[in-house]
Amino acid sequence: MLEKIQEAADFLKRKMQFHPEIAIVLGTGLGSLVHEIADKQEFDYTDIPHFPESTVEGHRGKFIAGRLGNREVVAMQGRFHYYEGYDMKEVTFPIRVMHALGIRTLFVSNAAGGTHPDFKVGDLMVITDHINLFPEHPLRGRNIPYGPRFPDMSEAYSKEWVDLAARIADEQGWTIRQGVYLGSQGPTYETPAEYRMFRLLGADAVGMSTIPEVIVARHCGMKVFGVSVITNVAAMAGAVAEASHEEVQQAADAAQPRMTTLMKELINRI
Ligand code: HPA
Repeated sequence: MLEKIQEAADFLKRKMQFHPEIAIVLGTGLGSLVHEIADKQEFDYTDIPHFPESTVEGHRGKFIAGRLGNREVVAMQGRFHYYEGYDMKEVTFPIRVMHALGIRTLFVSNAAGGTHPDFKVGDLMVITDHINLFPEHPLRGRNIPYGPRFPDMSEAYSKEWVDLAARIADEQGWTIRQGVYLGSQGPTYETPAEYRMFRLLGADAVGMSTIPEVIVARHCGMKVFGVSVITNVAAMAGAVAEASHEEVQQAADAAQPRMTTLMKELINRI
């Protein structure tokens, strides 16, 4: 696998005019941050050696390098989800490629269902911690010596950047949420009983992505910031709350301006 990672990184290094320091994974409906990137260079996943291909509706598979504010970044437009059938090595392959490019900062975004009773559709939740319920672990198997066999997860999401995001939200006059993201494999949304169970387990929001990428990033020493858009809320008191991909997309689209501002401000200040 190391050779494949290196080949993908070498391909990008040869073609890129940039030396990006920051990687951003753009989740469902959050693609508009891309419009803020200047001097863009785009690479289809299909052209990058060994990259899996993105299949899910609403995700276009592109790797975009350029400038965001005063920083050089790469953005992943479209990620690989476990529910699409990829194994965890494939899901996290791009993160290892980013590491091989010298990137040590990872920003991730996603859409998630709110299980915290106060959360509303359209809220942004800065991820403070996670609960990994995926059935396969991305670090299972021989340890790749980027990091220890048993990596520490006491601060998977940088506390410093959680606090910085809170200050930015304050300045903007936004209410921003903080909370625990629980990752479950999907592709079904949860039953009412499952939402209740996840709430009992300590989840504030539940989604189908992000955790594998964050684990791999932490293993190889990257610092991580993550944010969820709450696109639907679970009805806890027995009422029926349906979740649909269209509703999720719409709520994610509506949150884009705030998400974009938050990411841009963070990137300018770190
Ligand atoms: N559950 C899981 N994943 C999700 C949800 C949800 O309710 N909403 C958006 N992604």
